[in-house]
Amino acid sequence: MNFGNFFLPPQKSTIAGEVDQLFNFINLVSAVILLGIVVAIVFFIFKYKRKSENDTTSLVDHNTTLEVTWTAIPLFLIIYVFIWGFQDFMKMRTTPGDSYEIHVTGKSWFWEYTYANGGKVLNDLYVPAGKPIKLVMTSSDVLHSFYVPDYRIKQDVVPGRYTTVWFEVMEPGESVIFCTEYCGRSHSDMIGKVVALEQSEFDEWLRSSGGKPEDMPLAEWGEKLYTSSGCQACHSVDGSQIVGPSFKGSWESARQFEDGTSGVVDENYIRESIINPSAKIVKGYPPVMASYDGLFSDEDLSAIIEYIKSLK
Ligand code: CUA
Repeated sequence: MNFGNFFLPPQKSTIAGEVDQLFNFINLVSAVILLGIVVAIVFFIFKYKRKSENDTTSLVDHNTTLEVTWTAIPLFLIIYVFIWGFQDFMKMRTTPGDSYEIHVTGKSWFWEYTYANGGKVLNDLYVPAGKPIKLVMTSSDVLHSFYVPDYRIKQDVVPGRYTTVWFEVMEPGESVIFCTEYCGRSHSDMIGKVVALEQSEFDEWLRSSGGKPEDMPLAEWGEKLYTSSGCQACHSVDGSQIVGPSFKGSWESARQFEDGTSGVVDENYIRESIINPSAKIVKGYPPVMASYDGLFSDEDLSAIIEYIKSLK
């Protein structure tokens, strides 16, 4: 039984088809039972309508056959669905031994991925297609949840402990990652994507893991980092206030800090604000930014500074 992609996202992982089969079965059975109950209600409304003043209901005792039937049928259905669901659950929880492992850290409000070679990227997760991938996940602040609808996987990401989830993408392509645990002001902007590549392309990507292309201007690379690193969740570039100060027109502007001191937005201020955001909190803004220490190379930091400079 498969309704294809009629009301579900495309099935892009090996487990997706099985999850949908069970989901569709439960939906279909529920719909049939609902229909049966509604038809019976409507039928009885007319059949037992009061016909005259002294038309009283005779004493209704019980009907053993009926009661056993309406207990047994749902019981068997539930046991059937439980066994089916448990088998799928075990498949989803049992990570294949040859899985490729990637570490994931949820932060307010972006995802950080660390590969075995030490390479780190933010928000966009690159994986090889046709190979089981195991994500070892934790959070550096509050509860987040890693959800890829196309893969039918969802797992809470919890501070202070590791949770894991695995999937295998069938074809190269892109799928959206949502954070699906309410985690604060910019929860809805905590969006990334999985990019599944052919193994050879993935190996190539891993070697360069997300550095600036040779011929790209610094400010342009800075803009790319701005969108791919989750900055846009809190800092606008059009002057509007989200969570943190807007980047627009901020270059060389004066800043008042919560501790009563003041300063000017220059290279060192921006660098410090990225690496150690709690050092200087701009007056009127919440001290919520996660540290990006170790996530950007010096070249990346220069690129972001150049990008902010360009936002007049
Ligand atoms: Cu992270 Cu919602």
